[in-house]
Formats: sequence, C-alpha cells, structure tokens
Amino acid sequence: MNKSDYIIRKETKNDYREVENLNREAFWNLSVPGCSEHYFVHVMRDHKDFIPELAHVLEIGGKIVGCVMYCKGLLKDEEGNEKTILTMGPLCVHPDHQRQGIGKALLEYTFALGRKMGYDTVINFGNPDNYVARGYKSCKKYNVCLEGDVFPAALLVKELTEGALDGRKWYYYQCDADAPCEDEEAVEKFDSQFPPKVKAWQPSQEEFYIHSHSAITW
Ligand SMILES: CC(C)(COP(=O)(O)OP(=O)(O)OC[C@H]1O[C@@H](n2cnc3c(N)ncnc32)[C@H](O)[C@@H]1OP(=O)(O)O)[C@@H](O)C(=O)NCCC(=O)NCCS
Repeated sequence: MNKSDYIIRKETKNDYREVENLNREAFWNLSVPGCSEHYFVHVMRDHKDFIPELAHVLEIGGKIVGCVMYCKGLLKDEEGNEKTILTMGPLCVHPDHQRQGIGKALLEYTFALGRKMGYDTVINFGNPDNYVARGYKSCKKYNVCLEGDVFPAALLVKELTEGALDGRKWYYYQCDADAPCEDEEAVEKFDSQFPPKVKAWQPSQEEFYIHSHSAITW
C-alpha cells in the first residue's frame, strides 16, 4: 500500500457513526458471538481519559476503512511514582482491507504523534501476532504487571522512547472506559440501531479465550 493511496486524518464528529459501524464490522464474532466494540468507541469519546487528538481514521476514496483510538493509562512503580502512558484501542480495519498494511500505517502515524505529545510508552491487551512487528514486547520483558504481580500473556508494551521504562517494576492501571460494555442490555440496545447481523461462533473466539486467560509465569 502506497502512501498516496490513502489519507490518515483526525476523527471528526461527522465520522462517529461510520467509525462505530466499522468497529462493528471488524470485531463482529471475533472474540465472542457479536461484539461490543462499536458501543465501546461510542462511550469512550465521553470518558475523561479519552485522547481525541489521537483518534484517527484512514480513508481510501472517501471511505473510512481503518481507525484507532487511545486513552490515558497509568503506570505506578513500587515507590508510588506515577507515569501517564497511552492505552491503545480499539484498532480496526475493515475485513475487505485487512493485511494490506493499514493497521500498520495507522499505528505508526499515531505513535509518532503520541511521541510528539510527550508520551513515552503505549500499552494494550491484544493478540501478539498483530503487534510484535510494531515493536511491542511482552509485558514481562519490561517488568510491567497488574496488581497481584500477574503478567498477562496478552498484555503488550511498546516504548515510544527507548529506555522509558528503565527495568523497574511497574503496575499497570488501564482506564475504565470499557466498563459500560459490561451492561449487555445497553450494548444490545445500541446494536439495534445498526443493520441486523447474525451472532455466531467462530474459532477466533477460542483463540481469544486462550490469549485472555493466559499469564506468563517464568
Ligand atoms: C488487527 C488489525 C487491526 C491489523 O490491521 P491490518 O491492516 O489487517 O494489518 P497489517 O496489514 O497492517 O499488518 C500488521 C501486522 O500484522 C501481522 N500480520 C499480518 N498478517 C498476518 C497474519 N495472516 N497472521 C499473523 N500476523 C499477521 C504482521 O506482523 C504485520 O506487520 P508487518 O506488515 O510489519 O509484517 C486488523 O486485521 C483488524 O481490524 N482485525 C480485526 C479487529 C482486531 O483484531 N483488532 C485488534 C484487536 S487486538
């Protein structure tokens, strides 16, 4: 994919519904039957930790085919020192355009912007296959864990500035922008505003279960 084939730009209010629908198309049946990511992006925009300057879309021929959003997250060391970092997600590309470098282009563009804004680290949960080529490493390599000293296999960390995490132990606190997605009725109600889609099982849901229930212990 050549740079002249697409435009990356900041999300505007006029894009909201198209971006929500794109998330629905990309995530439908991927992790669970149906999905809640379209509701997630809808509510995230009103969350105090949402970073609108980093919400970006990638357009081809006037149609949005990829998008990414970020929130502020928090790292705390054992002395209680805090560092505000970027939590990336959701990131998605329309199924007709996946594996053509669009996700890569969106991440690289917004990482550079995030770095300019003064952030030195980006963290997210995800399938490592999608992120290791972007320079993400296992949280264990950077000594970043959850409370209780858990190092989830799907917790992926990238330094935007080399050495930013300096080896000390960090506890990661994700922002709670996705909390409303636990309300299944609210998700269903929101989903009913979109064209009908069939919920079904697919193997990627088992892959998601494995990734999201695994931790690194050695
Ligand atoms: C995941 C997703 C955002 C990636 O975007 P994309 O445009 O399809 O991916 P890209 O073409 O930019 O490739 C990104 C990297 O993924 C990896 N990748 C590509 N195809 C792959 C495949 N078939 N299997 C495993 N890894 C693959 C490569 O490492 C690639 O990096 P490289 O080009 O430097 O080698 C997109 O596929 C998507 O929206 N999927 C559904 C929603 C989703 O899973 N979102 C992420 C939540 S964790």
